Amino acid sequence: MNFVDAVKDLAQSNGMIVPEDDRLLPAQRAEVNARSLALSDVMTRACDYYRQQLRGAESAVAYLKKRGLTGEIAARFGLGYAPEGWDGLRSVFSDYASPALVEAGLVIDKSDEDASSRKRYDRFRERIMFPIRNTKGQVIGFGGRILDQGEPKYLNSPETPLFQKGHELYGLFEARQAIRDAGYVLVTEGYMDVVALAQLGFPQVVATLGTACTSTHVQKLLRQTDHVVFSFDGDKAGRRAARRALDACLPHVNDNKVIKFLFLPVEHDPDSYIRELGADAFEVQVQDAMPLSQFFLKEVVGDGDLATAEGRARAQFDAKPLLQIMAPSSLRLQMVRGLAQLTQTTPSEIESLFELSQPVARARVAPPKSKRSAPVGLERQVMRILVAHPSLAFMLDESILDDAAKLAPDGAEMLTQLVSVSQEMGEQANFAALAERLRATGSDFDILIAEIAEQTETDFDVVKLELAGALRQISSQVLKVEMMRLAAGGLRDPADIARYREITLLQEEIRRQAEVEAAR
Ligand code: CTP
Ligand code: MN
Repeated sequence: MNFVDAVKDLAQSNGMIVPEDDRLLPAQRAEVNARSLALSDVMTRACDYYRQQLRGAESAVAYLKKRGLTGEIAARFGLGYAPEGWDGLRSVFSDYASPALVEAGLVIDKSDEDASSRKRYDRFRERIMFPIRNTKGQVIGFGGRILDQGEPKYLNSPETPLFQKGHELYGLFEARQAIRDAGYVLVTEGYMDVVALAQLGFPQVVATLGTACTSTHVQKLLRQTDHVVFSFDGDKAGRRAARRALDACLPHVNDNKVIKFLFLPVEHDPDSYIRELGADAFEVQVQDAMPLSQFFLKEVVGDGDLATAEGRARAQFDAKPLLQIMAPSSLRLQMVRGLAQLTQTTPSEIESLFELSQPVARARVAPPKSKRSAPVGLERQVMRILVAHPSLAFMLDESILDDAAKLAPDGAEMLTQLVSVSQEMGEQANFAALAERLRATGSDFDILIAEIAEQTETDFDVVKLELAGALRQISSQVLKVEMMRLAAGGLRDPADIARYREITLLQEEIRRQAEVEAAR
C-alpha cells in the first residue's frame, strides 16, 4: 500500500474517515462531471451489450439455470454475459482505441517489449456479468463470474473515478424500495447471495464488493434504514469480516438504530443456506441475529478468562478503543454496563478509566434544548466542569483555547468568556458566585447553569481528572486533524514530514500523560 492508502485503511479500521479535499473550483467540478458522464455512457453501452449477449449464450444461460436463477430475476438485475474472444467490445465501440474504455476499466492495454505496438483487449471474457449501479441507477462497474470452475472466480472492474469498492454496495439501487417495505436491510458478502435471495423472497439485500465493510458503507446503509442486519459466513474469515463491520458501525450507532450480526453455519453462505433449508429457516436466522451490543461483548471477551483479574483487564483493554469511538448514547451506556458486569467494575469507573466523552453514567444530564448552536461534545463537557468548578479555570491556557476554537469554532467564544470570567474571580471562585456573574451578563449560560444546579456533587479530584482528560482529548483531536491533513497532502514536503513526526511525538506524550494520570 502507498502511504495515503495505508492511512485511509488504518483510519477505516478505527472507524474514522480521512477527510477528502473536495473544495473543487467550479471549472474543475464541471470537468469532473463531464468525465463521469462520459464514463457512465460507456458503461451503459457495455452493459446493454453484455445483456444482449446473454440471450444467445447457451452455456451462460445453462449456468444461471443451474444456479437456480430465473430469467425474470436475471433481467431485474441486468445480468449479462461477456462472450469469448479478445475484443467483443469492438462491435459496440467504433473507437475501440478510445482512452475512455481504459478509464472505464472495460479493456486492458498490454504494452509489448517494444513499446511501439500496443495491444488492447477486453477485460471481461466468458463471464457472467453483474452490473453494479450507484444509488442513482447509473452503471458504474461490473463483477464478472467465471462459468463453473476457474480463477479468479470473480473479476471486478478496477476502481475508477465513478467506482470505489469501499463506497458502493451491490444491489442497493435495486433494493431501495424493498428495504423501506421490509424495514431493514440485509448485508451479505456476495453478488450471488443478493440475486438468489431477491428471487427467494428477500429483495431487501445488498452486498459489499469483495471488500471489508467500511464506515462509508455503514453511512450509506443508515441513510436508507435504521435497521441493518449483517450476514457473515460462519468460518474464521466471516468472523474477521464481522469484526471489521463492527468497527465500521460503532461511530454511527445511536439509540434509534438497530444493527445485528447473523452468523450462518460454517459451510453456508446465504445463497446456499436458503436453497438448502428454505426461506422460513432463513427468516428465523435473520430474526435471531445477534445484536451489536452482544457481539461487542463477545468480541472483547474473546477466549479470555474472566475469572482472573488479568482476563478482565484484557477484556477492558480490548473494549476501550471500541467504546471511545462511540458517541455518548444510551446504547453506549448499556454496553458500558454490560462490560462492567462482566469485568467486576462499575459503569462510571469504566467511563472515567476510558476517558469516554460526556460520561453518561456519571453526569445523568438531559441534553439541553438549546436555542442557538450550543457547544457540543468535549467542549460542552469542559464548560460544564468549569461552570461547576470555576477555580479550575487556571488549567486552561491560550493554546488550549486556540485548539478548542479550531475544533468547534461555534462554541469557542462562550468558552473563552467563561474562562476569563472565572480566572478573574481567582482561586476563590465557586459555582454560586460565577452563576451570579454570568446571569448578570444576560448570556447563553442559563442552560448550563440549570444543568449543573441539578447535578449531584462529584468528588473534586475526580472532576479535575475529568477536565484534564477532556483538555487532552481536545489537543489530541486537533493534532489528529492536522495529521490527516498532512497525510492527505501526500507528505511530499520535508517540512510536512517533520511536522508529522513531531505530531506523532506530541500524541505519544499526551497518551503518556493520560496513562500516568490513570495510574494515580
Ligand atoms: N470476490 C471477488 N473476487 C474473487 C472472489 C470473490 O471479488 N476472486 C467477491 C465477490 O464480490 C463475491 C464475494 O467476494 O461475490 C464473495 O465471494 P464468494 O463467497 O467466493 O462468492 P459467492 O458470492 O458465494 O459466489 P458463488 O456462489 O458464485 O460461488
Ligand atoms: Mn455462494
